Amino acid sequence: MDKVKVLFVCLGNICRSPTAHGVFQHLVSERGLSQQIEVDSAGTSDWHIGRSPDSRAQAAALQRGCDLSALSARQVSSADFYDFDYILAMDNQNLQDLEQVSPAGFSGYLELFLPYGNIGEPREVPDPYYGGEQGFDQVLDMVELASTGLLNHICKRQGWS
Ligand code: 4NP
Repeated sequence: MDKVKVLFVCLGNICRSPTAHGVFQHLVSERGLSQQIEVDSAGTSDWHIGRSPDSRAQAAALQRGCDLSALSARQVSSADFYDFDYILAMDNQNLQDLEQVSPAGFSGYLELFLPYGNIGEPREVPDPYYGGEQGFDQVLDMVELASTGLLNHICKRQGWS
């Protein structure tokens, strides 16, 4: 059986999308689905290619048992649209940027990530980069909710639950 492949995307790939990558991967592993689901993250920009996640994102995630230190930033590429089933944007600008480069043959899901948390509003994960540490905790709260919702959705769709 083909793996379900999930790509999280933000602007820099050093704050929100690596947080989602780590949290969702952790959840997938806890549920024993690491062989069935592949997870990755990328940025729409090339600003931080090769960098580790922001130290504030790493610290906030580690407090919740999630180690992001092995991740390194990369930029979204056209190949991603052929590789991934779910491409999940953190905010509307990311979604718009992705829609602009999405090839006509893309057959996966390109959408916002946070609505999987079923919280109504907000629908975007706010960019914590220019704010304080508290913003990173808020991102984690949102990402945890949306990750659980996304995993439940995938399991249901695949007939795993
Ligand atoms: P991210 O946050 O998109 O969640 O990784 C940002 C990281 C870097 C910058 C902006 C947002 N920046 O302007 O360098």
